[in-house]
Amino acid sequence: MGHLSLLCLFALVTLYGHDAGLSQAPSYGERGSDLGIQVFQQVARSQPLENLVLSPHGVASVLGMLLPGAHGETRKQVLKALRYKKNGPYKMLRKLHKTLTAKSNQDVVLIANAMFAANGFPMEKAFVATNKANFQCESRNLDFSYPSEAAAEINEWVNNKTKGHIPSLIKADMLDPAMTRLVVVNSIYFKGLWKSRFQPESTKMRPFNGGNGIVYKVPMMSQLSIFNMGTAATPQGLKYNVIELPYHGDTISMLIVMPLENTPLSQVIPHISTATVQSWAKLMHRRKVCLFIPRFTADAKVDLKDALSALGITNMFSNGAADFTQLSAEPVYVSKAFQKAKIEVNEDGTKAAAATTAILLARSSPPWVTVDRPFLFFIRHNPTGTILFMGQINQP
Ligand SMILES: *[C@@H]1O[C@H](CO)[C@@H](O)[C@H](O)[C@H]1NC(C)=O
Repeated sequence: MGHLSLLCLFALVTLYGHDAGLSQAPSYGERGSDLGIQVFQQVARSQPLENLVLSPHGVASVLGMLLPGAHGETRKQVLKALRYKKNGPYKMLRKLHKTLTAKSNQDVVLIANAMFAANGFPMEKAFVATNKANFQCESRNLDFSYPSEAAAEINEWVNNKTKGHIPSLIKADMLDPAMTRLVVVNSIYFKGLWKSRFQPESTKMRPFNGGNGIVYKVPMMSQLSIFNMGTAATPQGLKYNVIELPYHGDTISMLIVMPLENTPLSQVIPHISTATVQSWAKLMHRRKVCLFIPRFTADAKVDLKDALSALGITNMFSNGAADFTQLSAEPVYVSKAFQKAKIEVNEDGTKAAAATTAILLARSSPPWVTVDRPFLFFIRHNPTGTILFMGQINQP
């Protein structure tokens, strides 16, 4: 908010699939990430000049946790939007979770999942067991008749899991004391050191041409190094440059996407999908360049209800139509779903965190109404193609 656009910048942390890992059929990491990218596209369209940061994988994770509890049309809508197979996405999701969080990445990826259920809320055993097996999801009981204490407990969990980067996710007034039954939370924390670090002495104030046409002075990091880079184009022929900055573990990269002069970022964003990101590998070559890139931080809160509804996931949000009969015998629906995310990029590397939540209420109450120039960047891990974070910055 606040500042008018400085730069438009697209943050997308992805687990990058090099040729060996990815076949023609999208991986489960990519299927989930594509839905998250579509959410980003919706949000970016309504806020073209703001900074944004989102974890596509966080969006997919919360839906993945609700999925074993969903039934009928509610379930069909989620499967369709995620392009998951009807039967047995869980084995694939379990494998994905393991790969993403493997120590072999070297750069730290921490993913944690939890369900906070109201005391006495009868959850189906299979629902709890499936989430525990797939996502190491922990289950806790809370007394929502004391919303401040319940919110404080959930926030402490999120704060712990994001290492203090998301200190507060839930406000007490989001937890209806009589109606709240379940709060589902996913947290993702990423810390990666650049494979080739920037020297702090080389960081200088330099001009950046904001998305709003104003030129700002911002701290630009710089280094002379060999980078993998290339030029790609949208189907309309709008060209953009792609630059890869690998993290030191060599399985995760940040990919920067900057349209050529005079093309606004908003014309490139609709063209982005995991398939697009995958296609860049063929266009990129190693080149020795002096790279200037701003140091920046961004945080954003993104409401998921409208975006997911526009993508065909409507029933779960409807007091009348939600079908979570595999979750509990007591009818519930999702009253709120949102994500908070944050990214810090500096000379040493990147820290990013996201927490995504869905708040489920008993169905008997009325539904709540929840009221130099722009570039894109992507971070990607090599084995799976999963998008962990993405963003848009208008003010570094
Ligand atoms: C957060 O971490 C602290 C220290 O490890 C622990 O004592 C506390 O129980 C954790 N809080 C939650 C809500 O998990």
